[in-house]
Amino acid sequence: MIEEIVAQGMDVERFIQGKVAMIREAVGNGTAINALSGGVDSSVVTMLGHRALGGRLKTVFVQNGLMREGEAERVVELFRDLGVEVRVVDARKEFFDALKGLSDPEEKREAITREFYRNVLARVVRTSGAKHLLQGTILTDVEETVAGIKRQHNIIEQLGIDPKEAFGYHILEPLVQLRKDGVRKVGMALGLQEELFRRIPFPGPALAARVIGEVTPERIGAVRKATSVVERMLKDSGAFQYMAILHQDRVTGMRDGKRDFGMQIEVRCWDSVDARKASPTRLPFETLEELARRILDEVPGVVSVTYNIAAKPPSTIEAV
Ligand code: XMP
Repeated sequence: MIEEIVAQGMDVERFIQGKVAMIREAVGNGTAINALSGGVDSSVVTMLGHRALGGRLKTVFVQNGLMREGEAERVVELFRDLGVEVRVVDARKEFFDALKGLSDPEEKREAITREFYRNVLARVVRTSGAKHLLQGTILTDVEETVAGIKRQHNIIEQLGIDPKEAFGYHILEPLVQLRKDGVRKVGMALGLQEELFRRIPFPGPALAARVIGEVTPERIGAVRKATSVVERMLKDSGAFQYMAILHQDRVTGMRDGKRDFGMQIEVRCWDSVDARKASPTRLPFETLEELARRILDEVPGVVSVTYNIAAKPPSTIEAV
């Protein structure tokens, strides 16, 4: 049983001191690795790890080809400003090869997890000589995976897998007692830029969690463009999270007076405190119309844009 630390009333400084001590003790004189995706959780872990280990923590950004527009460059720049050097590891081909032909959600998740931990990170760890991987698993990830709702990409030990045996390194999870609201408090106290700790959540499987059916470079390209429109338009909405999803079914539309059997994009925008429950944000209809206009305009091949109005549960925040 993991003991939850509730954000409200939490002693953030004491939490940070405790986790810094825990990381130092586990790593000893050695080095550790962490994979930064630019999401809130991995950003906070990066800062926590650097406070504990300084240059003995090596931070990598795994470019899996599933990231948002300009993400790698932006993350490298933001962390450089914080004095943290981030190395970008190009693994695009490996991830797309691993995802080829898969359309079942759990099989896709499994393929991403395998590629990430067993191949890419294992290689990085091996060549660096590190024995520990630091990662930003939070309580909600553990609960949903253990309950069998979704296999969150970063859940390893809680599924009975020994990472040392399976991949050759230990995993440290300093945020596992927290939920998103607690993680944000820690991020703020660690001096992360607001752009990072206020960021909307982004899933471990990245844009692959937003492509229903097979994940190909072309389909990721379409959802990446739509995501960029949605994020630009809703950044001041105050919502907990917003996203674009690419559907598998095609629908009939028309373009230039001709039938066009095109793609469908679903927009989701959520109000939530900690992602356990969520409800669709009541966006003004004018905003929805503008979203549709811009997506149809900027993403070639899309003929339909819908807005999700179902709450979690029974929906989940991500579609895959
Ligand atoms: P769901 O979709 O389970 O998402 O309601 C809950 C929150 O966790 C974020 N998140 C993930 N979701 N797989 C997911 O399905 C992952 O690996 C993952 N990592 C993070 C999600 O974006 C939402 O905020």
